[in-house]
Amino acid sequence: MFNMQVFEANITHSVIDFFEKSKRLSFNEMNIKLKSTCGINIFFENQLELDELIDTVSSNLNVLNEPDRAEYGDFQTNSDLSGNVCNLLKKQNTEPEIIIEPTCGKGNFIISSLNTFENIKFIYGVEIYKPYVWETKFAILNYFLENKKSNLPEINIYHYNVFDFDFNKVSNKHKDQKILVIGNPPWVTNSKLSSLGSDNLPLKSNFKKLKGLDAITGKGNFDIGEYISVKLISIFSKLNGSFAFLIKNSVAKNILLEQNRIKYQISNIKQFDIDAKKEFNVSVNACLFLCSLNKKPDVTIAEYNFYTKDLIREYGWVNNKFVANVDLYLKSKNIDGKFPFVWRQGVKHDASKIMELENVNGHYVNNNKETVEIEKDLVYALLKSSDLKGTVIDKSRKHTIITQKRVGQETKYIKELYPKTYNYLFHNIKYFNKRKSSIYKGKPIFSIFGIGDYSFKPYKVAIAGMYKRTKFSLVKPNNNKPVMLDDTCYFIGFNTLIEAEITRVLLNKGLTQNFIQSIAFTDAKRMITKDLLMRIDLTKILKEIDFDELQLEIPNLNIIDWENYKVKLIKQEFEKNQQLNLFDKQALHTTQAIRNVGISADKQVYASK
Ligand SMILES: C[S@@+](CC[C@H](N)C(=O)[O-])C[C@H]1O[C@@H](n2cnc3c(N)ncnc32)[C@H](O)[C@@H]1O
Repeated sequence: MFNMQVFEANITHSVIDFFEKSKRLSFNEMNIKLKSTCGINIFFENQLELDELIDTVSSNLNVLNEPDRAEYGDFQTNSDLSGNVCNLLKKQNTEPEIIIEPTCGKGNFIISSLNTFENIKFIYGVEIYKPYVWETKFAILNYFLENKKSNLPEINIYHYNVFDFDFNKVSNKHKDQKILVIGNPPWVTNSKLSSLGSDNLPLKSNFKKLKGLDAITGKGNFDIGEYISVKLISIFSKLNGSFAFLIKNSVAKNILLEQNRIKYQISNIKQFDIDAKKEFNVSVNACLFLCSLNKKPDVTIAEYNFYTKDLIREYGWVNNKFVANVDLYLKSKNIDGKFPFVWRQGVKHDASKIMELENVNGHYVNNNKETVEIEKDLVYALLKSSDLKGTVIDKSRKHTIITQKRVGQETKYIKELYPKTYNYLFHNIKYFNKRKSSIYKGKPIFSIFGIGDYSFKPYKVAIAGMYKRTKFSLVKPNNNKPVMLDDTCYFIGFNTLIEAEITRVLLNKGLTQNFIQSIAFTDAKRMITKDLLMRIDLTKILKEIDFDELQLEIPNLNIIDWENYKVKLIKQEFEKNQQLNLFDKQALHTTQAIRNVGISADKQVYASK
């Protein structure tokens, strides 16, 4: 369709013809003619612009290379997609009078809106990049040259920075009209902008009103698209109409996260997932975020497939808890509580080149491919997230050197007791010296983290933090030594195999799995977190399983072990509650807790000791 560029903007044959035929008109006459042809107010801002256009059109200057537009998060929506978005809105009974496209780019959403909606009276487009302003104007003119309409909307395309544009003025002017805020804001984060040395940012970037550290650390990092979305939602949520933006799924989730606190007057919130690779050639999860304005605030969002319109899930807030799947959560929410033990993260050393070893033909080899001759005493089998696949694990690919029994312990003892190990560590001291994390500051040189009594328990129930798998594995000792997990995994340690087995079965039970899936967000880098695991109320799961059911999974289980396990759990919970309610005279009574799970009377004596 495009065959030429003017002001670095594509221009069609019809538009070139239009200007060729009217090239003798003065600047004012031309603007009046354009207004009556396509509705745009002030098409040309001065005579110079008009002269330049006429010169270019006459002398056939064209194609220019597109500059790097990374700082503008520039991903133009193709016309098929903008058309399909408008059709979807129309099917949902959206019939706007006012269209607002806050970063309109080449104007495809404006053209699709003109194509789809019949009652448009005003259009406002804002764009920072002048060639796109021209391209939008040319595209609108082309639209009206090819589609003669009797009722022209009034159109304003502003060459403006969205952060400075006064949208309140527009909102006040159209208080009583039906509005559609539509578009696709820049896909770029403020940290990416600062790495580009760009100032394409709002003046006040702490728009979520974060306090203290959060404001200056990671939580203060945000997507420019998120800023523009919430700014426009807050300005226009007092008007009737709809809001429809193409945004990253993470931005949609962030808007919902804040919705419980901020309570924008938006409802009927939907997210239609698009294929961003196909539409924009970028690998990111993105969607059409849709909501009705000026309504009682909703706090959940229904997620669909944009192409099939199939419902995927509903997520958001239920009773002040942010959940990934409302349906699953409602079915499993009674186990949303407190885990009786403490979930631990595995060991962290930040020196994998020399601290991780593989056993090759009976010799240890480190990640630098060097053979390592050291005493076996401080070497333990190691599992990483990727190793936690089976139900029971008693083998490992890797090993690691455990230099301490607890965090902060002196490491000088190694020199005396394990000279070969010490020599190896000392020979590689540079790897320890270059560890940047502040956790190592002022600590013994060969320090590790995520280590304590719990690390040396022989049996563990573990789960990977970095994978989508929500099943738990039982980890058994390797060569009579406890197996270590790395810091991408979470675990609880047990002294007996039977306790670990029962815990694994309880955690892998359908109800528990539903609960985890209802609160775990699959798009998070670390899908399973300690906070999430600490919410599993094991004592409630106890009530949902009986001895016979459990024995099917653990054939050697006997009733005494099962009763002991229950008592231990209740006692643990009771002690925890007592600590929590230290000053609370109404502290939960053990016998009451025991009655709740219905264990036998003789065990009550033990439990209340
Ligand atoms: C993701 S593109 C989408 C363009 C258009 N909305 C569409 O759907 O095709 C983002 C647009 O925002 C524009 N933009 C970036 N920063 C801007 C700013 N500060 N003010 C106005 N527009 C901006 C870019 O030039 C680009 O055209």
